[in-house]
Amino acid sequence: SKRVAILISGGGSNMVKLAQSMAGDHPARPVLVASNDPKAGGLDRAAEMGISTAAVDHRAFKGDRPAFEAALSAKIAAANPDIICLAGFMRVLTEGFVRHWEGRMINIHPSLLPLYKGLHTHQRALDAGDQEAGCTVHEVTAALDDGPILGQARVPIIAGDTAETLAARVLVQEHALYPAVLRRFAAGERAPVYLP
Ligand code: GAR
Repeated sequence: SKRVAILISGGGSNMVKLAQSMAGDHPARPVLVASNDPKAGGLDRAAEMGISTAAVDHRAFKGDRPAFEAALSAKIAAANPDIICLAGFMRVLTEGFVRHWEGRMINIHPSLLPLYKGLHTHQRALDAGDQEAGCTVHEVTAALDDGPILGQARVPIIAGDTAETLAARVLVQEHALYPAVLRRFAAGERAPVYLP
């Protein structure tokens, strides 16, 4: 089966859903969860699930992004993954890293791309007066939050929503979308899936 490395920066709820989904007849299995933050809660959750973990603290590299990535790449290479899933990984990756993994690396972003690349997606959707929001899984290419779309899920925006309430509603959909896309991606399927 395909070997999957998952990169996280925080609580790792998407990572947990991805890891749990890789069971039974799934075409992939988790071989590494790595974080740029040694304190990321998701590292403990991965270890509890019996998955190898690694931490490379970006702060130790004082802004030297290539040096940080070389250290991260060494951890990733040791796990020999076929696929990398970015799941709440909050460091921008260099073009060299992205090119190396192009076609084998996917990301989940909390907006209906191409809307709202970058940060603060939910507040920006509210500020724009949008009636719906959502999340996107896409192949990672050199341009930020760009690349072929592999799946999207949408949710309504409700009167009184804050960035927090909207984020929580979108996150529920992330947890359904990302496992659905990974299963297809690991099987070689690239046509986008739309939920719900
Ligand atoms: C998720 O909402 C994910 O879409 C977002 O961070 C959250 C991570 O939550 N990713 C980005 O904003 C990427 N720029 P999690 O750690 O519980 O999966």
